[in-house]
Amino acid sequence: MKIAVCGKGGVGKSTVAALLIKSFLEGGYRVLAIDADPSPHLARLLEIKEKITPIAEMTDLLAERAEKSGPYYTLNPKIDDLPEKFMYKRNGLNLMVLGAIRTAGGGCACPEQTVLRRLLTYLLLTSRDVVIVDMEAGVEHFGRATVAPIDMLLIITLPQRGSVETTHQILKLAKELNLEKVYVVGNRVKDEHQEVFLKREFGERYLISLPGDEDFERREFEGEGLLDYNGPVYQKIKELKRKIEELSSEASRCAKS
Ligand SMILES: Nc1ncnc2c1ncn2[C@@H]1O[C@H](COP(=O)(O)OP(=O)(O)OP(=O)(O)O)[C@@H](O)[C@H]1O
Ligand SMILES: [Mg+2]
Repeated sequence: MKIAVCGKGGVGKSTVAALLIKSFLEGGYRVLAIDADPSPHLARLLEIKEKITPIAEMTDLLAERAEKSGPYYTLNPKIDDLPEKFMYKRNGLNLMVLGAIRTAGGGCACPEQTVLRRLLTYLLLTSRDVVIVDMEAGVEHFGRATVAPIDMLLIITLPQRGSVETTHQILKLAKELNLEKVYVVGNRVKDEHQEVFLKREFGERYLISLPGDEDFERREFEGEGLLDYNGPVYQKIKELKRKIEELSSEASRCAKS
C-alpha cells in the first residue's frame, strides 16, 4: 500500500504522516517513509538523529535516473533492494529524504520528483509493507504527477476556508490524474460544528476528524519527536489506520472479482 499525505502548508501533514508511520509500525508492518518536503522534518518527528543523504544531493544518480530507467527501476525493487546509501533503517522503519532546500532562485525539483515517481511506480510491496510519503505543501508537485503511482491520497485539512479551498483544488487535480482513493482528514477539529462543516464540504471522501492537542506545541519547543505520543490525536490516528486497511482490502477484493 502506497499512501501520500498532502495539503496546504502547516495543516499537519508531517504530524499525521509521523503518527501513521508509528501506528503501522506498531501493527507489525514494515514502513518505508519518504520525506518529499524540500524542508524535511520527518526524521526529527521520528526521532532519527543520523544524517540521511537526501536523494537531491546524489546528482550523478539523479542525472542517470532522470534520463533512463536504471537497474533499481527496471528490476522492480523491493524495499530491501533500495540503496542503503540514502536510506535509514531501524526495526521495520525505513526513511528516505527526497530533497534539500535549494538555493534561493536556483534549481528545479524535477529530477528528484522523477526519481520519486519512478520509485513509487516500480517498487514491489508485500501485503505487510506500507509506503508513506510526506508531500511538499501545496499543489506544485501535482503538475509533475509525482503522486500518480500511489494507491491512496490523504489530504489533510483544517476547518478553515483557505485550507478547505486548497483541498478542493487538490481533489480536482487528483481527479485529473484519475486517482480514485482520495480522502480528506480534518485536523485540529474543535467541535461538532466544525466537523459538520467539513463533512458537508467533502461528503463521502471525509474520513475522520483529529482533535487539537496543545502537547504538540511543547514537543516542538523541546525538539521532541512523536514516537512516545499516545494522546487523543494518536487514538484517532489508530482509527484512521484501521479505515485505511479496510479501504485498501475492499479495493483488492474489487480488483479480484
Ligand atoms: N492536531 C494538532 N493539534 C495541535 N497542533 C498541531 C496538530 N497538528 C499539527 N500541529 C502543529 O502544527 C504545526 C504544523 O504541523 P506540521 O508540521 O505537521 O504541518 P505540515 O503540514 O507538515 O507543515 P509544512 O507545510 O510546513 O510541511 C506543528 O507545530 C504541529 O505541532
Ligand atoms: Mg511538513
